[in-house]
Amino acid sequence: MKNITVVGVGYVGLVTGACFADLGNRVVCLDIDKERIENLNKGIMPIYEPGLAELVERNVRADRLHFTTSYAEALKDAEFVFIAVGTPEGVDGEADLQYVRMAAETIAQEMDHPLILINKSTVPVGTGDWVADIVRENQPKPVDFSVVSCPEFLREGSAIPDFLHPDRTILGSEDPEAAERVAQLHLPLRAPIMITDLRTAEMIKYASNAFLATRISFINEIANICEALGADVKEVAKGMGFDKRIGHHFLEAGVGYGGSCFPKDVKALAHMAQVHGRHPQLLQAVMDINAYQRKHVVIKLHELLGDSLEGKVIALLGLAFKQDTDDMREAPSITIGDYCREEGAVVRGYDPVARETALRAMPYLELTDNAYELAEGADALVVLTPWNEFMQLDMARVKEAMHTPILIDGRNLYEPSKMRELGFQYRGIGRGYNGEGLR
Ligand code: UGA
Repeated sequence: MKNITVVGVGYVGLVTGACFADLGNRVVCLDIDKERIENLNKGIMPIYEPGLAELVERNVRADRLHFTTSYAEALKDAEFVFIAVGTPEGVDGEADLQYVRMAAETIAQEMDHPLILINKSTVPVGTGDWVADIVRENQPKPVDFSVVSCPEFLREGSAIPDFLHPDRTILGSEDPEAAERVAQLHLPLRAPIMITDLRTAEMIKYASNAFLATRISFINEIANICEALGADVKEVAKGMGFDKRIGHHFLEAGVGYGGSCFPKDVKALAHMAQVHGRHPQLLQAVMDINAYQRKHVVIKLHELLGDSLEGKVIALLGLAFKQDTDDMREAPSITIGDYCREEGAVVRGYDPVARETALRAMPYLELTDNAYELAEGADALVVLTPWNEFMQLDMARVKEAMHTPILIDGRNLYEPSKMRELGFQYRGIGRGYNGEGLR
């Protein structure tokens, strides 16, 4: 059993804290947000993540997991301190490090015994060195510490299994002994552990997210070419994926990537490159294609509904940026909903989980309680999130409820020929023949 402190109880921090507690460690999670800590102490989670509430409850009951707003309390017995605070997007796509700075300064002021500081937040390359400088400058009297970078690779919606069964653990430090101790902490996860220097570890995180985003933009570009040439991108991706060098993952064409990570991290990496006089042409193209994917849906709406959307009822099936989360950050539904709204359309939406978060992002939204209610009288149904429950819908019933049976499947959930048989005017993303000839 080790004593671990986690600073920042957002997505990454809470999952990290709860999982390390579940592995038998004593964990104190700290946040400066009083309400969040009070709620956690009452068992109320700040985010929706499958299995998280149960995991937190079990470890609180076992007295291994604690929540506090007090640095003094959180650092009292700590050996390892994970920094997992938010790094929102600042100006020019540069990561905003104010919360990292605040955490480093306060830890420096409060620490009275040696600590290993482990950075989990996604931070610009060079931040580990910067954190070390801040701690040194803010310590009232010198106390030993080391900084280790341990980037997280969790996905929202599967964060707990991702934490407990990672593909790899990446550790970066200029202090091999500290890196080795953090490696020991990760041994129960039975994944390959790679130890490298601080900056390289920080770069691995950006390069990994940028590569995955590139795969998505690549397949979206192929999808658009498929539409012009009459090929089916789903089959193309499947055929490509059998090549072991390519693989099947992250080749689903759709409305483009969203969320709190890919958009921010690709932008931040491009920014870092530019600041240092490099030209991140590929990253720029990845971002451009991603922005176009949203527009592409709007173009399809106009093709089928005419030049004006004035007074049309546009029904958005799925609002969260992806399934199994209520997160609306950079969700394609916002860009598409905003556009329709500006055009004078009535924008309706349904999502199994993203409801309050969706209304906050799109206050004009008419929320419905299920997909059938959503379809009632709609002029077009636009699928934006691939929730499992949408695959089981009675699509004949959906079609009957609609005013005009236009189905824009932004996630390629449905079989085009079946939807056309049901009488839908169906448009997927990159699904070749559109039922009315090639464009
Ligand atoms: C992503 C990474 O996958 C994690 O490894 C990383 O830890 C995390 O960012 C982070 O940096 O914190 P996440 O944003 O939760 O995780 O979501 P993903 O499942 O990766 O999906 C990102 C976006 O890409 C979603 O909008 C999703 O719908 C979209 N996507 C994904 C596609 O459009 N096509 C695909 O084939 C896969």
